[in-house]
Amino acid sequence: MRGIKTFDTFRAVVKRAMSDPTPPDAILATGDLVQDETRAGYEHFRDALKSYNVPVYCIPGNHDAPDLMAEILNEPPFKVGGVVVQDNWALVLLDTHCRSDDGGRLTTAELRRLEDALDKHRAKHILIALHHHPIPMGSRWLDGVALRNADDFLNIVDGHPQVRGIIWGHVHQASDRRRNDARLMSTPSTCSQFLPNSDDFAVDSRTPGFRWLNLRNNGSIETEVLWLE
Ligand SMILES: [Fe+2]
Repeated sequence: MRGIKTFDTFRAVVKRAMSDPTPPDAILATGDLVQDETRAGYEHFRDALKSYNVPVYCIPGNHDAPDLMAEILNEPPFKVGGVVVQDNWALVLLDTHCRSDDGGRLTTAELRRLEDALDKHRAKHILIALHHHPIPMGSRWLDGVALRNADDFLNIVDGHPQVRGIIWGHVHQASDRRRNDARLMSTPSTCSQFLPNSDDFAVDSRTPGFRWLNLRNNGSIETEVLWLE
């Protein structure tokens, strides 16, 4: 894509993360796992990750084919959507995929699933993952393909103070903001990045990257973005 072999940069990012002195307990893949929506694309994704033998939690993005994802990433270590509970935390994986739209939408059923999960896990700290940004990034072209019903989403979140973090992909850049007690974070792409605060589409010179998350027992989130050399 635009001169980059995205499968190579993806594997380099994963290798860098997994070779850390403290390797991760899990991988969170925040959508647009493939660009071309092919079966072979998801098989490459699966085969590149399964040997690491850590859970891979996946959500679909606008460039994904949810049916193919569900079919090919259908057994451990992969999990598409749903809720993951571990120790003091619950991770809620949301589907914002909207056919024929690069923007995202949470269906009524998905909003209800979120609310049910938050009601059920009031004693847990919550991290929510979704592909599309629920707040403006300050970039006109990107904010035109955001989460279209972000108000519905944020209304539910605001009613559940145990939500500690919301994380998304889609925007190919790092950001870290706050809303009440929740941390709102975007994660860079494993391939090229988009130039922050640009009104029109523009590629940034930053290298492929990823974000560490350390979900602490007290509900705080330690996080750091790493960029490949
Ligand atoms: Fe996307």
